[in-house]
Amino acid sequence: MERTLTILKPDCVKKQLIGAVINQIERAGFRVVAMKKIKLSKETAGEFYGVHRERPFFGELVDFMSSGPCVPMILEKENAVADFRTLIGATDPAEAEEGTVRKLHADSKGENIVHGSDSAENAAIEAGFFFAAEEVVRNN
Ligand code: CMP
Repeated sequence: MERTLTILKPDCVKKQLIGAVINQIERAGFRVVAMKKIKLSKETAGEFYGVHRERPFFGELVDFMSSGPCVPMILEKENAVADFRTLIGATDPAEAEEGTVRKLHADSKGENIVHGSDSAENAAIEAGFFFAAEEVVRNN
């Protein structure tokens, strides 16, 4: 069983889509094994996205991710990393497949509703960023 880390981003929370997006995630066969609602500081958002520090959109990304509460979750499923990226669609909603989370709900490349880990290795690092071991609980 593989795990991936997602964040329902501040635009998802502001649009009151937490339930709708989690419903889509669960219907696709993912189990939520950890979840919390938090507001990132600019410093913490910058740390999480440290790999993008040199990118031109870094400042915008940090401002957006610290603009309101978000909901990080650890999800479990076979092939979770790749299957979750398929479920959410391309970073840019204009390029995302019909029916994907971003096609349905996202406004732009920056405000794109959800984050999804790009590898199992990064998923483990990102999960550790948000959750202590005792906060990760399998359903059964
Ligand atoms: P995410 O999967 O969370 O990881 C990096 C994020 O950078 C990505 O989603 C986008 O929200 C954001 N991003 C990527 N490209 C751009 C861009 N050109 N302008 C603004 N934000 C971007």
